[in-house]
Order: sequence, then C-alpha cells, then structure tokens
Amino acid sequence: MQVAVLPRSSIGKKALMAVTGAVWIGYLVLHMWGNLHIFQGQEAFNHYAEFLREVGEPVFSYAQVLWIIRIVIVFSLVAHMWSAWELYLQATRARSTSYAVKRVVQANYASRFMRIGGVVIILFVIFHLAQYTWGWVTEFDRADPYRNVVIGFSNPIIVLFYLLALASLGLHLFHGVWSMFQTLGLNSRRFDGFFRGLAVFAALVVPLGFATVPLAVLFGILK
Ligand code: HEM
Repeated sequence: MQVAVLPRSSIGKKALMAVTGAVWIGYLVLHMWGNLHIFQGQEAFNHYAEFLREVGEPVFSYAQVLWIIRIVIVFSLVAHMWSAWELYLQATRARSTSYAVKRVVQANYASRFMRIGGVVIILFVIFHLAQYTWGWVTEFDRADPYRNVVIGFSNPIIVLFYLLALASLGLHLFHGVWSMFQTLGLNSRRFDGFFRGLAVFAALVVPLGFATVPLAVLFGILK
C-alpha cells in the first residue's frame, strides 16, 4: 500500500490514531513526571519550568525546542480527532440496522464512550491552557508557575473538575492503549493478559500521578 493512500483507508486511520495517541501518551508521561518537581518546592519547580524553555540551547535558540514539541502535540491532537471523526462516519455509513453479536454492541458502547471522553478531555485541555499558559482563569504571574498552580488549586471546584477530567483521561487511556495494541496486531491470546496489564498501568499511573498535585494543594501539603 502506498503511504499516501494509508490515511484514507480504515486501517490507515486506525494506525494514525494509534501513532498520534502514542505521541500524546509520551507527552503526558513526561508532563506528569515533570510536574512532580513541584514537591521539591517553589524554586525547584520554577527552575524546571524555565529549563523547559532553555532546553536545547545553544544548538536551538530560546524556547525553540518547546515550540517544536508544541507543534508536534497540536498536530497529533488534530490528526487524532480527525481520524476518530472519519472512523465514526465510516462506521455510521456501514452500520446495519440490527446487531446480532453482543461483542459488536459492547464495542459500540466503548467507542461512544471514547468519543464523549475525548470531548471532555479536549474541553479540559482548553480550560487548562487558559488557566496555566494564558493566565485567564485565576491570578497569574508568568514568572511564578508554582504560585499559579497553588492558587489555581485553592479552589475546590477547579480541583473537582480536574479530578473528573483525569478520571475520563484514565478510561480513555485504558481503552485507547488496548485498541492501539489491537491495531498494531499485538492481540494474540497468549499475551492478552500482558497487554491488558500495560493498558491498566498507563490508565492508572498517568492520571494518579497528575492527581497528586491538585490533591496536595487541596489538603494543604503544597502552599
Ligand atoms: C493536575 C495536573 C496538571 C498540572 C498541575 C499541570 C500543570 C501545567 C502547567 C503549570 C503548565 C504551564 C507550563 C508553563 O507554561 O511553564 C501546563 C501546560 C500544559 N499542560 Fe498541564 N498540568 C496538568 C495536567 C495536564 C493534563 C492531564 C494535560 C493533557 C491532557 C495537560 C496538558 C498540558 C498542555 C498541552 C500544556 C501546554 C504546554 C506548553 O504550551 O508549553 N496538562 N500544565
């Protein structure tokens, strides 16, 4: 199959979803891990935030690597949503009026849940950028990300919203990682347990790691 034809075929779109999803998982693991610097205190966390802008110097100029990462994740997000939408349209067109097999109905519930969860996550990301990157939601000082995070999570409603979004992210990751393995053909019965274990791991570790920060602020551990 020629590469140019791939995105138009159903398997090509699934592959595009798997690859762009994997890019986001990589980004999320690094972002979550990086966020844990906040437990080292204000200076360490702000220093880390500044390091993200300086990384790659002097080969790259200030914030250039950060911008490359931003372009890659935005492109991946758009491609991920586009392929989800196209696969949905394709499935709607192809769908017969009744289902004979229970598994198909279950798969249909799962993919509907993926779409709803995906919308929740994208709304969350927009809110999150508005809050911590653009500074439109809570008191904001560009030079002090630590303070921005602590002030942001001093509001229990915001914390609750984050926890709900992280729960959606967990479920999305569980089904997403599992589907990714199927797309890649890693679904032999012998290794099902192993790949399911990896899906559970991704679905638990990333959201729980993220959740430690708002919870620590809420319970007064970070102030
Ligand atoms: C509760 C957990 C989280 C905390 C405390 C947190 C914190 C932050 C902070 C402080 C920034 C601004 C960094 C800076 O400009 O120096 C940021 C940026 C960002 N976060 Fe999060 N984040 C969390 C969860 C998430 C999740 C779950 C996602 C995605 C689903 C996400 C996606 C992003 C993106 C895309 C950016 C913009 C990166 C950039 O433009 O440089 N974050 N986050």
